[in-house]
Amino acid sequence: MEMEKEVLKYEEGFNRAAGAISRFPLIELKGVPLRNYIVQNWSSISAFEPDPTDLLIATYPKAGTTWAQEIVDLLLHNGDSEACKRGPTVDRFPFLEIQYPPPIPSGLDLLKKMKPPRFIKTHLPIQLVPEGFWKHKCKVIYVARNAKDNLVSYYHFHRMNKAQPDPGTWDEYIQNFMRGKLAWGSWYDHVKGYWKEREKKNILYLFYEDMKENPRQAVEQIMRYLDLSVSKEVIEKIVQLTSFNSMKDNPMANYTFIPKIMFDHSVSAFMRKGEVGDWTNHFTPAQSQVFDEDYVRQMADVDMPFRTSL
Ligand code: A3P
Repeated sequence: MEMEKEVLKYEEGFNRAAGAISRFPLIELKGVPLRNYIVQNWSSISAFEPDPTDLLIATYPKAGTTWAQEIVDLLLHNGDSEACKRGPTVDRFPFLEIQYPPPIPSGLDLLKKMKPPRFIKTHLPIQLVPEGFWKHKCKVIYVARNAKDNLVSYYHFHRMNKAQPDPGTWDEYIQNFMRGKLAWGSWYDHVKGYWKEREKKNILYLFYEDMKENPRQAVEQIMRYLDLSVSKEVIEKIVQLTSFNSMKDNPMANYTFIPKIMFDHSVSAFMRKGEVGDWTNHFTPAQSQVFDEDYVRQMADVDMPFRTSL
């Protein structure tokens, strides 16, 4: 008889596995670099069978995942902020593919405990998303962020997240981003992959810059996509509750719930700046030029409306 696995709270899992947290190496899976633990458990991840009512939020890391998650949760709870503080983001939205050293719960461990409809987070590029999501026509929200700001945010995240590979120097980091060598692979392939399939697969494709420019519109778009209808007052409330400053102060959304041995906010806060155009404070003119020339080549097959300033 198979014993039911005990699923610990994250904090307890992290404390028990403290000695095993390190900058985990990446291994390529079908050309996509992923954390070793993910690759080792790939067969069970790819076999995951969602329920047709499950919702998937997909992003390249640091594109605005947490922000979209909070909007979705508030919409589904009619703007009830207390209900959305029932647990940290990682518990409310299991991270499909995430795997840690035991006994830290994996995304699949959490999913097994929850009844559909579940809100599921993934950073997998579209070709690696388990087939069940498409077979069951699950709703999928994708958030894309312009490459340069996405890169800057990911760089600081590598510095503070002790489970990600060492970022190296800023210049090396830019090179690794351009070559698709960072965890979850090429930003270019990621944003293009979902973009090309968005109509066929009924994916709601959002841009971080649009959300920043007009957050009310973003909340309404998500509401309509989820077939929900909330009052104008509730929409307004959700816009306020999901502003950068509100989320930065929300202990259930700002990732301070991850123990310091993994997320060191004194190096760089998870809720860092939340702006469009911060890349101008990081790229030198020469780095920007090389990046832009390469960008034109890598994005030549699509016409995507990315904006690097507002
Ligand atoms: P910065 O590092 O540029 O500040 P993810 O949730 O995908 O990991 O993305 C994190 C990035 O989104 C961080 O970017 C974070 O500050 C930003 N972010 C999180 N919540 C936000 C919000 N409510 N408004 C704007 N940006 C937000």
